[in-house]
Amino acid sequence: MKKKAAIKIASFVLFSIVVICLILLSVLFIISGGFIKQTYLEPWSKDYAANHSDPRVRLAASGLLAASNHNMQPWKIRLDKSDNRVFYLYADSSRMINEVDPYARQMMISQGTFLEYIAVAGKKEGWSTKINLFPNGTYDESNLAESMDVKPVAKITLSKAQPENNPLYEATFLPDTNRETYKMEMLSSSQVSVLESLSPGKGVSIKLYQDEANLKKIGGYALRSAAIEADVERIMDESGAIFRANEYQKNKYRYGYSVEGQGTSGSMKHILQGLLTVFPSLNTGKAASKNFIDYTRTSVDNTPVYAMIITSDSSRSAQVESGMLYSKLVLTGHTLGLVMQPLSQVLEEYSEMSIPYTEFQQTYAPNGGTVQMLFRLGKPTKSTPLSMRRDVMDLIIEE
Ligand SMILES: Cc1cc2nc3c(=O)[nH]c(=O)nc-3n(C[C@H](O)[C@H](O)[C@H](O)COP(=O)(O)O)c2cc1C
Repeated sequence: MKKKAAIKIASFVLFSIVVICLILLSVLFIISGGFIKQTYLEPWSKDYAANHSDPRVRLAASGLLAASNHNMQPWKIRLDKSDNRVFYLYADSSRMINEVDPYARQMMISQGTFLEYIAVAGKKEGWSTKINLFPNGTYDESNLAESMDVKPVAKITLSKAQPENNPLYEATFLPDTNRETYKMEMLSSSQVSVLESLSPGKGVSIKLYQDEANLKKIGGYALRSAAIEADVERIMDESGAIFRANEYQKNKYRYGYSVEGQGTSGSMKHILQGLLTVFPSLNTGKAASKNFIDYTRTSVDNTPVYAMIITSDSSRSAQVESGMLYSKLVLTGHTLGLVMQPLSQVLEEYSEMSIPYTEFQQTYAPNGGTVQMLFRLGKPTKSTPLSMRRDVMDLIIEE
């Protein structure tokens, strides 16, 4: 009799625990926004660009799928009213992230990533895209933000061409950044030569490192610079401020960071987002610093190849060209089954980073050049989810 009662109580307790867990999970799911439509992913649809009749807007819709620093998507487009085959790209000065990128160098690289996507989409759509950098001259550095507002990064002129089926175009719909572990396999010599051949010359070059000594040395710099960054509160706060904890925030802002960037998807994503919304401290302050360092260590331990884009000068044009080359590398990498992730910390120009920055530049660009991008590359062990994108019409400057 007693045993039966005990079993009944135990079953009731178990049932109650299961019900409570299900209620908690549902609450987290609702807090995460699990039921709402993800408008921030619409630009990834293959039909998205086709919704616009103006080819310039269609190409801009492809451009915004490109990688950008902190996923800021710092792009503005002005359509030439007097010539419907001409449009201009401007850097969006309201999207500068001054602490981590004080000279807006990464922001300029992000102009290049966008331009290359436009060129690739143009080929597919039957347009030859003539890209003229800084057509009205380069920036006044002492008045940078104002200068960005008035001087275009590029004038893009379209002329009719034969549409080409291009595997690089298909690759624009894949995420550019894979922060997962990579297979510890070296590149074949043919992969190396395909990637190296993408260098446009003119003082912009690619370097690949897959020997043990350099893997160790570069990995060491990545770890050291991540530890420095994790310790600089204003930089961590700057990144934290653009972290979007749930679907509501992602739909509202459509730029910045989210848990997808760390490879989280499916129902796990909603549980994590629910928790981060209720307990933001899980991903701020000391917790954020520790996550960042741990993450970098795992990345470094699982990187078979590092690559760098090096320019002979660090003019604004060279920075933009570095971004164009980076997009070429990412897209070509996809066609070879390779993925990439920039590791920018050691290249950043804020004061706390100056010692490793200088050492790194002297080691890897010894003749007065500049390493514009450092990134890991390899075969993925896991695919990554797509990240937020703005609506293309928000890029267009209304006049
Ligand atoms: C100039 C530049 C610097 C970047 N630096 C980093 C970096 O240090 N670490 C990182 O994980 N991703 C970095 N990224 C990748 C962006 O965070 C990424 O492009 C953005 O979040 C959008 O994601 P997606 O590339 O997967 O579409 C960088 C991208 C650019 C263009």
